[in-house]
Amino acid sequence: MSEKMKTIMDYDTVALDEERHALAIIDQTQLPYRTEILYLTTQKEIWNAIYLLQVRGAPAIGVSAAIGIYLAAREIQADHFEEFYRQFQEAKDYLDSSRPTAVNLSWALKRQEQVVLANRERSVPEIVEALHQEALNIREEDIRVCRAIGENGLTLVKPGDGLLTHCNAGKLAAVKYGTATAPMYLGQERGYGFRIYADETRPLLQGARLTAYELQESGLDVTLLCDNMSAAAMRNGWINAVFVGCDRVAANGDTANKIGTSLVALAAKRYHIPFYVCAPTSTIDMETATGGDIHIEQRKDYEVTEMWYERRMAPEGVKVFNPAFDVTDNDLITGIVTEYGVAKAPYKEAFEEIFRKKMKE
Ligand code: MRU
Repeated sequence: MSEKMKTIMDYDTVALDEERHALAIIDQTQLPYRTEILYLTTQKEIWNAIYLLQVRGAPAIGVSAAIGIYLAAREIQADHFEEFYRQFQEAKDYLDSSRPTAVNLSWALKRQEQVVLANRERSVPEIVEALHQEALNIREEDIRVCRAIGENGLTLVKPGDGLLTHCNAGKLAAVKYGTATAPMYLGQERGYGFRIYADETRPLLQGARLTAYELQESGLDVTLLCDNMSAAAMRNGWINAVFVGCDRVAANGDTANKIGTSLVALAAKRYHIPFYVCAPTSTIDMETATGGDIHIEQRKDYEVTEMWYERRMAPEGVKVFNPAFDVTDNDLITGIVTEYGVAKAPYKEAFEEIFRKKMKE
């Protein structure tokens, strides 16, 4: 009898394979057609996997970077701290250059750098072991944090609600639960019977390929929409709340998320539907003042003109605008759901309060 074909539910999105000394990821470019696990050992392989979106979503990128820099540190040949630190910084800068918008990437790398500096009096193997432990901590923390976001998000909705999401801020964008999907998964555990609407998310279809897939695999009631259908769904009265993830939150509460998110927020405002952004505190960047200061990744033309189709779908030579993310202005956001509670405007003060709570832990 043939073994049942394995799906994403059988694997972790991001993990450290201790035997292979590898970053193990589900190759998200192959989903939903094929569940293939990649074992990445070199800096170049890990850089490419992030750049090519084989692993994507802000928290998953952060965890991959934390594990990636540990694996890079294992390879460093140095018999004194200064040489080790020089090579560590080189690897850190390299991994940090793989994608620009999700702050979790540099957040995780900086956190690992703090581990190196705090252990500078110790031997190189001891520093590497400290990086190993911190990579595991960052991964475990992601599970706890996403679950707490789910609990806080669940207080904002009621059983039977219709919830709309854009892109994939799900299990596939984190280690488990996701951020925007965490209230959906926790609601499912408690029999809330949500109706979920997933925008397909042009141009790379993370909503169709990943969100619709993971929610359906988990047994949730999910309906797929093309991006330009979400206002119609809202007008039909199907949507009670929007939950999206984000790649960076600026100090004033502007947020960057997958391209198209701001249109969803505008439509939600028109139809008086609460619009919530789910973000772990690792995604809040108090050093970025406003959404205008967020570096928005621009991607290749072919993603718009030909990818996913056998033939071109646009004329040769046409000019293309292909930003990966857009900024949702803070006045369109009802609340930002973190692991420490729901922040509401004025955001700067709300975030200071949230970071005070975090410091007390
Ligand atoms: O380009 P992607 O697929 O990495 O974009 C991902 C998103 O925009 C997610 O919504 C965001 O990273 C939050 S994931 C919890």
